[in-house]
Amino acid sequence: MGSAQPNDIDHILLSEEEIAAKLDELAAKIDADYADKDLLLVGVLKGAVMVMADLSRKLQHTKVAMDWMAVSSYGSGTKSSGVVRILKDLDADLSGRHVLIVEDIIDSGLTLSWLMSNLRSRGCASLEVAAMLRKPEAAKVKVDVKYIGFDIPNEFVVGYGLDYDERYRSLPYVGTLAPHVYEN
Ligand code: XMP
Ligand code: MG
Repeated sequence: MGSAQPNDIDHILLSEEEIAAKLDELAAKIDADYADKDLLLVGVLKGAVMVMADLSRKLQHTKVAMDWMAVSSYGSGTKSSGVVRILKDLDADLSGRHVLIVEDIIDSGLTLSWLMSNLRSRGCASLEVAAMLRKPEAAKVKVDVKYIGFDIPNEFVVGYGLDYDERYRSLPYVGTLAPHVYEN
């Protein structure tokens, strides 16, 4: 089961089954909302890889294209500053496209609000966001997220794409990290 030692994870917050069931729900909504449209999914590397792979395969009716972006937010330690640098830009031209940003987690929401105004300026026909996880801080920033998987407590989580020092992304569930992992 992925790359974690059995005692690295303090507790499992969302099981593989809970995640799959939630993605079924989100996919059904997205299918209904984009029934007569072509959709461009924009994944934010690297964390959104798992959500993108699973969510996109659950879309039954929507014609889907995928593209990827990598961004890095300047900031000290784990806090993001809202100043974002593009490490890898999209290949696609967004003009006239229906775009859905696919995110792993929204914490302060600063990265996402920067990303939304950046993509909006490229002339898309519509722009929405699907995020697997949202932390309480995100409520303070006005980012309009149309599709939300789970609101989670303000704890550091790993798995299902999310890493600590590039580890644990491959875990099939979302869990909290045991303190001994980051304390040494
Ligand atoms: P903001 O604060 O701009 O940043 O919404 C979102 C980004 O912060 C990272 N992040 C986490 N990564 N476990 C992680 O592995 C977490 O609990 C966590 N909280 C925030 C993540 O890169 C996300 O894209
Ligand atoms: Mg991310």
